[in-house]
Amino acid sequence: MRIAMGADHGGYSLKEIIKQHLVEAGHEVLDLGTHDTGSCHYPEYAEKVAYAVVDRDADLGILVCGTGIGMSIAANKVRGIRAAAVSDCFTAQATREHNDSNILCLGERTVGPGLAMRIVDTWLNASFQGGRHQVRLDMISELEQN
Ligand code: RB5
Repeated sequence: MRIAMGADHGGYSLKEIIKQHLVEAGHEVLDLGTHDTGSCHYPEYAEKVAYAVVDRDADLGILVCGTGIGMSIAANKVRGIRAAAVSDCFTAQATREHNDSNILCLGERTVGPGLAMRIVDTWLNASFQGGRHQVRLDMISELEQN
């Protein structure tokens, strides 16, 4: 799978750990920055990863900031993005199965690296269940049109 990744300074270190984990698992990573711990603005990286996903340069995206929340708020402004801020494996699975989330947002200050990698694996291994959930996603798409 080709996965676009982005982080601000608050998520840079965890991005690097997850990137290595994904590459070792055989995934292709499109690293859209940031590339160091210097202070920067998370919406910039949320935008880059969101457009990589909607433009199909990547299958899915992963964003990391201090909490995952700023990244999710910003990425969800892009039409077609369903970004989920996740800090446990149950939610990681549910947000793929029910919401067909296409970007996973993590917080370096809220989850440790071991849990973060479990969350990533759970999210990548889960599949959208369709059916009644598709009806609800169609309603979200309609909201985006207005
Ligand atoms: C940066 O200090 C921090 O605000 C950011 O990484 C993120 O947590 C915002 O949601």
